[in-house]
This record gives sequence, C-alpha cells and structure tokens, in this order.
Amino acid sequence: MLKKVMVVLFIGFVLIQFYPVSRTNPPVISELPGDSAAKDLFKRACYDCHSHETVWPWYSYVAPVSWLVTDDVSHAREHLNFSSWGEYNVKQQKHKLEEIIEEVEEGNMPLWFYLPLHAHAKIQEEDVATLRAWAKGLSVVDSTSNAVQSESSHGEPGHQH
Ligand code: HEC
Repeated sequence: MLKKVMVVLFIGFVLIQFYPVSRTNPPVISELPGDSAAKDLFKRACYDCHSHETVWPWYSYVAPVSWLVTDDVSHAREHLNFSSWGEYNVKQQKHKLEEIIEEVEEGNMPLWFYLPLHAHAKIQEEDVATLRAWAKGLSVVDSTSNAVQSESSHGEPGHQH
C-alpha cells in the first residue's frame, strides 16, 4: 500500500514538472539613475524579486517550488520594479520610496523565507540609515522634474564607501 502511494506520488511529481513556468528576465527599461549605496543595497537584497535581473535559483526549476517562486517574483515586480523605475511618475516614485523604507524598517522585506538561502540579503541597521539618507538626497519633491534625480550621482552625502 505504502509502496503504491509512493509510486503515485513520484509519478505525480514527475508529471507536474511539465507544467509550464515562466522564468522571464525582460530587458531593463529604466533603472534607478546613478550609483549609490542604496542602489547597491537594492541589488543585493531586492533585485531577485523586484527587477528584471532575477537570478533564478536551482529550486526555481523544480515544481511545485518553481510555481511559488515565479508567482512571488511576478507579484513583486507588479508592486515595485527597479528595472522600470523611470516609468513611475514623481508621485508614484515618492510613494514607492516611502513604502520601501517602511517595509525594510519593519523587517517585512526581503521576505523571510528568502533569507536562509540568501544570507547576503540580510538588512542591517546601517542599511536602514543608508536608505533614509539616500531618500533624503533625492529631489522627488521637485515638480518640474519628471523623474527622481539624485543630487549627487556618487552616493548620498555623508556616506563613505
Ligand atoms: C523573495 C522575493 C522578494 C524579495 C527578495 C524582496 N521582496 Fe519586496 N515584495 C515581494 C512580494 C511577493 C511582494 C508583493 C507582496 C504582496 O503580494 O502583497 C513585495 C512587495 C514589496 C513592496 C510593496 C508593498 C506594498 O504594500 O505594495 C515593497 C515596497 C517592497 N516589496 C520592497 C522590497 C525591498 C526594498 C526589498 C529589498 C530590501 C524587497 N522588497 C525584497 C517579494 C520580495
């Protein structure tokens, strides 16, 4: 009996591997301008889900985990996409900035289950300070500008690399 169950489960496991999953990395449209410590932080901790530069891990090729991973990435890109940052208008960018800082401060992002296999993505206290300083240095309130411009393209003031 147990053997039969195992065989059925195994066949099921093999069959679900054929269900199509889309692990796409579309072209980058308009990234955050310039270089900054904040951008490095996003690349390190957020880009796997919130950009078109996802590094798809081996388990994203194995159903049913692949379904969860691709689903998370597509939702994450819908909510916040660093690869099309320039497509957001000033108001949206401002709102995203607030959300980013909020989510990171509250420890909601990166998603907890991402961390055990991506230790480099862990957010430290100094990372939150980096984000705050960066957000302050952006002239998002300038209504004449159509995009977030960094006041300095070499990192936010006061931050040493
Ligand atoms: C493992 C994938 C993953 C990683 C890594 C990740 N996120 Fe997310 N993020 C998501 C998903 C999925 C959602 C959509 C949540 C939902 O559906 O409610 C989301 C939503 C968000 C939102 C929008 C929240 C809202 O209320 O709309 C923000 C802001 C955000 N993430 C910021 C970040 C930042 C900043 C990082 C890096 C420090 C990060 N995320 C890393 C998966 C991820």
